Amino acid sequence: MLPMRRAILTAVRKNHCRFFSASQSNWNARKGLVLGVYEKEGEDGSHLTEAAACWDKALSGKLSELLKISGPALKKGKTRIFYGVHQDFPCVAAVGLGKTTASVCGAENWDTCKENIREAVSAGCRQLQDLEVSHVEVDGCGDAQSAAEGAALGLFQYDQLKSKKKTKVTTQLHGSTDLAGWEKGLLYGEGQNLARLLMEGPANHITPTVFADTIEEKLAPYAEWVTVHKRPQTWIEEHQMGAFLSVSKGSEEPPVFLELHYNGCPDRTKAPLLLVGKGITFDSGGISLKPSSGMDAMRADMGGAATVCASIVTAAALKLPINIIGLAPLCENMPSGKANKPGDVVRAQNGKTIQVDNTDAEGRLILADALCYAHTFKPSAIVNAATLTGAMDVALGSAATGVFTNSDWLWEKLYTASVVTGDRVWRMPLFQHYTRQVTDSQLADLNNIGKYSRSGGACTAAAFLREFVTVTHWAHLDIAGVMTNKDEIPYLRKGMSGRPTRTLVEFAAGLAHQG
Ligand code: BES
Ligand code: ZN
Ligand code: ZN
Repeated sequence: MLPMRRAILTAVRKNHCRFFSASQSNWNARKGLVLGVYEKEGEDGSHLTEAAACWDKALSGKLSELLKISGPALKKGKTRIFYGVHQDFPCVAAVGLGKTTASVCGAENWDTCKENIREAVSAGCRQLQDLEVSHVEVDGCGDAQSAAEGAALGLFQYDQLKSKKKTKVTTQLHGSTDLAGWEKGLLYGEGQNLARLLMEGPANHITPTVFADTIEEKLAPYAEWVTVHKRPQTWIEEHQMGAFLSVSKGSEEPPVFLELHYNGCPDRTKAPLLLVGKGITFDSGGISLKPSSGMDAMRADMGGAATVCASIVTAAALKLPINIIGLAPLCENMPSGKANKPGDVVRAQNGKTIQVDNTDAEGRLILADALCYAHTFKPSAIVNAATLTGAMDVALGSAATGVFTNSDWLWEKLYTASVVTGDRVWRMPLFQHYTRQVTDSQLADLNNIGKYSRSGGACTAAAFLREFVTVTHWAHLDIAGVMTNKDEIPYLRKGMSGRPTRTLVEFAAGLAHQG
């Protein structure tokens, strides 16, 4: 039996809700439809979205009837597949959107309605993908952008390196005129998927050079507004980035300092937003070697660079009227005869000396130089993203990115963006208390680990970075906790998350449109 037919039949058996009116040829059309269904307030029943109601009417109430007879009211995030109800759509997935009253939630710090749509649409699309449906029309569910994000994010699967791949699914908006919202949502979702692709890719494939080439390629269509510089080792040496070089020299793989300029603002001289991302394409820990168990996840230690660069690609695709400069120091952190040794002292671009007591605290070393260089562009604000500390994961897990900032204004902008995207942020402290722990070094101006190394590790790392910042608006995003997804975010499959790309894009869009 053909695998697709077998899948359909199994699913039919499982769902006990077939309705055969489709012909054999329709089964092979592989076209599906995702329709939203709300929970009825205070009652056991359902309430259809506008598109679903319209469709139901055209089919003389067949959908509502099937929903009633096929089981209990459809709960949030759950799906139910109906087969053969319509000639054009052999498979229809009804998806649970939760309550109609869902909106911005003060306790969860996100828009529950948007999150519910992302979750439901992603579940519906994935179910249809499992049935080898290759084209899916998606109900906008009253918020086409969120629906598109759910579809794009839910369908992403890293199977480039597998022989057996999941069905490629194309999507299309159904029953809504908000094509602009749908297209925007697709770009947001695809932006995050680009970051996921780079993070998930194995370190022998995504080297600093390949990373930089990939971003250059993604930006090629926007050459009119974008300049890409792939700075080689000689340039890094000329720019006296001693801290960055001290990490990269432990590896055989050449470092790259990636510099992106996006000039979307009509005034090309307007002060840019500066985004900096940690780009360690593999973090073994160096001489302070990490335990081997779980070390493979350190291929995603370039998550900061990936999310920052992906957000610039997305900003360019959206033609955001803003100037952005992206900086990504890219290298490996490896143990070798040339690697940093505990106790070594290195000099950053601004002349500050750093005692490297733990070679596994390498992110702050490469960021120190990138932050110094960032100031030369006289930016309006600097935002850096980095999978910086295991301590960040201990503190917040994957619920939110930790934000350390010297600016209430910047915090407000990042927070507002995150409520919309559902990819949350949480403000963390930048007390002098932590600064004292990194400025008390035996041999140098700074030590790369806090005096009481384990306690408040995310905060001492942030305090260290602050020593390289003089601008009034700076934010450090520690994204170590949100780097991976097991099953916490329902619309992301297991794997590297690409978070918080959409929040960065929304944040940039906020700055672009409000000035
Ligand atoms: N890349 C790691 C941090 C990390 C851990 C990211 C887990 C994602 C998941 C970073 O370079 C690191 O190793 N930090 C050390 C710092 C310590 C030596 C002060 C850590 O967190 O253990
Ligand atoms: Zn490390
Ligand atoms: Zn690292």
